Amino acid sequence: MKENAISAGFFGTGHFVPERVLTNADLEKMVDTSDEWIVTRSGIRERRIADESMTTSDMCYEASLRALADGDVNASELDLIIVCTVTPDYAFPSVSCLLQDRLGASRAAAFDLSAGCTGFVYGVVTAAQFIGTGLYKKVLVVGAEMLSSITNWKDRSTCVLFGDGAGAAVMGPCEKGSGLLSAYLGSDGSLGPLLCLPAGGTKEPITEEAMALGRDKLYMEGSEVFKVAVRHMEAAIRNAVEAIGEEVSAIDLLIPHQANRRIIDAVNKKIGLPEDNVVINLDRYGNTSAASVPIALSEAVQDGRLQEGDLLVMTSFGAGMTWGAVAVRWNKKELS
Ligand code: UT7
Repeated sequence: MKENAISAGFFGTGHFVPERVLTNADLEKMVDTSDEWIVTRSGIRERRIADESMTTSDMCYEASLRALADGDVNASELDLIIVCTVTPDYAFPSVSCLLQDRLGASRAAAFDLSAGCTGFVYGVVTAAQFIGTGLYKKVLVVGAEMLSSITNWKDRSTCVLFGDGAGAAVMGPCEKGSGLLSAYLGSDGSLGPLLCLPAGGTKEPITEEAMALGRDKLYMEGSEVFKVAVRHMEAAIRNAVEAIGEEVSAIDLLIPHQANRRIIDAVNKKIGLPEDNVVINLDRYGNTSAASVPIALSEAVQDGRLQEGDLLVMTSFGAGMTWGAVAVRWNKKELS
């Protein structure tokens, strides 16, 4: 990655998850599954599910308020809002515009970004470009997902995996040598059918027949996605770290997409970090897609797992298929 004129860092982080907890025991009553199968195959013990009155933009709002408070930033100072999601309130207007209005971010531009579970990583890199050119100084990046709205609750191979939530970060200019140091993004559209929402777009409208076949709900070929995930997350981490002339052993904290404990362990087996250097919260939240990395980032900050000067790597993969990683020298100080 060519170095930007201005470095982009993180000043505030926050997250929100709905109160309602859906445990593996609850799922045992809904489909032919067991706590033992879910824990051994995925590491997930429970997930949060939004109640019917809640929307993706509601979760964005709550997470954003916390990130703004953490960064001591007023919504009226925001120049840009990027919401990364595949489960928007509407096809349009965008979730970012709904959020802009609700936050009272009167001078912010706003757009949504769709890169599946890699959304937040793509969003951070996008925000860094606006900051890097000097066009914008305060950018809010949110990863939010209400996957429960597109989950097929009769399909045991997918319904046990997903959860709802949102994570947010306020980004802006920071000292050279800190903030986002490198980025590696990738995609392969030929793999799109492995993880998709077949009906509901221009290609396949939602009809009664489509609904009867479950085509208005998420479809995934889990074991194929698994292999792609391990291969590309490992490569993305190595690329992001090598781009700054470091070894993977220099990573102080790795925040991987929280899809499956076995995927994270397989990636870490290849790169060999101590377990304490890898953030895992999927046991409590399941896979929250674009929200998974920013929720884990916000929790890591809250738990004091990130110190000034630490080398942080965030990596993800998801629908598209897409993948990516960013290397960040952690420094919450804003450039005055
Ligand atoms: O965010 C990106 C999107 N998603 C992912 O990253 C997910 C990636 N994939 C995975 O995490 C894993 O592939 C899964 C957790 C989805 C599945 O694990 P697996 O080890 O790949 O299992 P499998 O799909 O090969 O299924 C093994 C067996 C099958 O039975 P048979 O054919 O061997 O008799 C399934 O029918 O497990 C069965 N099975 C279940 N059994 C109990 C599938 N789902 C369940 C279930 N409970 N919930």
